[in-house]
Amino acid sequence: MLPPLPTELLHTLFSEHIAPGDLVIDATAGNGFDTVFLAEAVGPSGKVIAIDIQEKAISVTRKRLEKAGMSDRASLHLGCHANLKEIADGGAPSAIIFNLGYLPGGDQSVITRAEKTLPALGSAVEILCPGGCLAVICYPGHPGGDAEAIAVENFISSTPELRTARYGLIANGKPAPFLLLSCNAG
Ligand SMILES: C[S@@+](CC[C@H](N)C(=O)[O-])C[C@H]1O[C@@H](n2cnc3c(N)ncnc32)[C@H](O)[C@@H]1O
Repeated sequence: MLPPLPTELLHTLFSEHIAPGDLVIDATAGNGFDTVFLAEAVGPSGKVIAIDIQEKAISVTRKRLEKAGMSDRASLHLGCHANLKEIADGGAPSAIIFNLGYLPGGDQSVITRAEKTLPALGSAVEILCPGGCLAVICYPGHPGGDAEAIAVENFISSTPELRTARYGLIANGKPAPFLLLSCNAG
């Protein structure tokens, strides 16, 4: 058995945590893999809110949902996840994913940055339902990603209502992606 990648571990754990009918949020839709995973997890009666700052990401995510036959389970928002609370519009999600960094296959100069990510995480903590889970995958290996990863880890570890675990592969001393998985312990 190979140790799972952070995203693989996240999907395994969230498929246990998320129940049919839940509201969940993908705060960085990207190429739509996490959105489709979430749409499958919430089932036909659930709802996924997916956000991305790039039109290309929204369009790829829309196509991936169509191909999977799950477009009706997701609402897609072109914009910044710093507006998460307004976009959620009073909803209390059971799970929120931030898969940080740049759009694979897209413009690598457009990256998530702490100045927007931290306020977005603050909103995420505010709106999570009791017992809800927040997952952040950090990528310290690209320029800018290292500073963001440190800021995110500091922010999450100093948020008292969260109980958090950290998981990542060890990559011969090179910075490797890692998952911060938090539950709203109240
Ligand atoms: C690593 S990708 C996400 C991968 C995606 N979840 C998937 O399953 O394919 C990171 C995404 O964050 C988006 N992003 C960057 N800054 C953002 C912001 N301020 N608000 C929302 N999305 C942002 C990028 O456009 C990019 O598509």
